[in-house]
Amino acid sequence: MAKHLFLLPGDGIGPEAIGEVRKIIAHMNDAMSADFVTDEGLVGGCAYDAHGAAISDADMEKAMAADAVLFGAVGGPKWDSVPYEVRPEAGLLRLRKDMELFANLRPAICYPALAAASSLKPELVDGLDILIIRELTGGVYFGEPKEIIDLGNGQKRGIDTQIYDTYEIERIAGVAFELARTRKNAVCSMEKRNVMKSGVLWNQVVTEIHKAKYSDVKLDHMLADAGGMQLVRAPKQFDVIVTDNLFGDMLSDVAAMLTGSLGMLPSASLGAPDGKTGKRKALYEPVHGSAPDIAGKGIANPIAMIASFAMCLRYSFNMITEADNLEKAIANVLDQGIRTGDIMADGCRQVGTGDMGDAILKEFAGLSA
Ligand code: IPM
Ligand code: MG
Repeated sequence: MAKHLFLLPGDGIGPEAIGEVRKIIAHMNDAMSADFVTDEGLVGGCAYDAHGAAISDADMEKAMAADAVLFGAVGGPKWDSVPYEVRPEAGLLRLRKDMELFANLRPAICYPALAAASSLKPELVDGLDILIIRELTGGVYFGEPKEIIDLGNGQKRGIDTQIYDTYEIERIAGVAFELARTRKNAVCSMEKRNVMKSGVLWNQVVTEIHKAKYSDVKLDHMLADAGGMQLVRAPKQFDVIVTDNLFGDMLSDVAAMLTGSLGMLPSASLGAPDGKTGKRKALYEPVHGSAPDIAGKGIANPIAMIASFAMCLRYSFNMITEADNLEKAIANVLDQGIRTGDIMADGCRQVGTGDMGDAILKEFAGLSA
């Protein structure tokens, strides 16, 4: 059966990164009879330029109908002064909200070849394999009221609202516990229950659902600030971390940097399984942004985007062997000393986006043959 992929390359280095995934898709169709059908749309600044919106309704419909969405990156200085409602990021946030992609999986894996590129000592990160599960459709990102009001006395007030309902915490905790069972079976939940009511509820609900359904999994709780500190002190103590939307945004950037480069980290954003088909809506995107400073130069690191496609194979299409092979291909290429500029090291060979993509594809083809 045809597998429908909707590509949203977006802005900055997004199109270059997606271009390398397109090569892999073409190879899988030609040589591995994978039957991917792709369509493509606009998101972010380029969508604003074309339609005056960060994503058009027509593209939103295509995203909703696809088996999976592959997303590049959005934003850039060109759109710094567009109205808030139509800023490039609004396209991504609408996709997450309308597709109900509440579970954001952000693995932070340190490839052995890159341990020296980390800002931490190599022994702290060598072999690192943690999974951050970030709640993605709630919390302060979407809570109302969200506004700036004029107090009439020469002062203004900026308001964002952090809200979590029981069901939102239950379902994200469920994803964390279930994935932990496929790994080292340990979950660390992070919130700020010492200052936030939403943190108190988060802690209670995670504790209750653990007791009721997942008591075989080891559960710890950590205040999110202490969690950030532990992530840079001794990151290998963690297996799965589950946290809210804002803490997850920050902690996953920290975790990304442990792995040597922001250009390495993929992510998957998943919805709930459909009652009838069991299929989840899904969007896959690199954690790095649009990197406008290097866009269009052919030097961006496509690994996070390619690794995001590997997650797509794994989570949307259950193509586990193919996903394993693609991840192995990335590791092999790094072992061979092939590097983009952001992860360049002494004695390695520096290549551009296209050559990195080709090297990974060649390895992948070899592993799949
Ligand atoms: C991320 C990004 C986004 C977020 C931005 C681009 C809206 O930082 O995916 O981590 O804050 O969620
Ligand atoms: Mg972020």
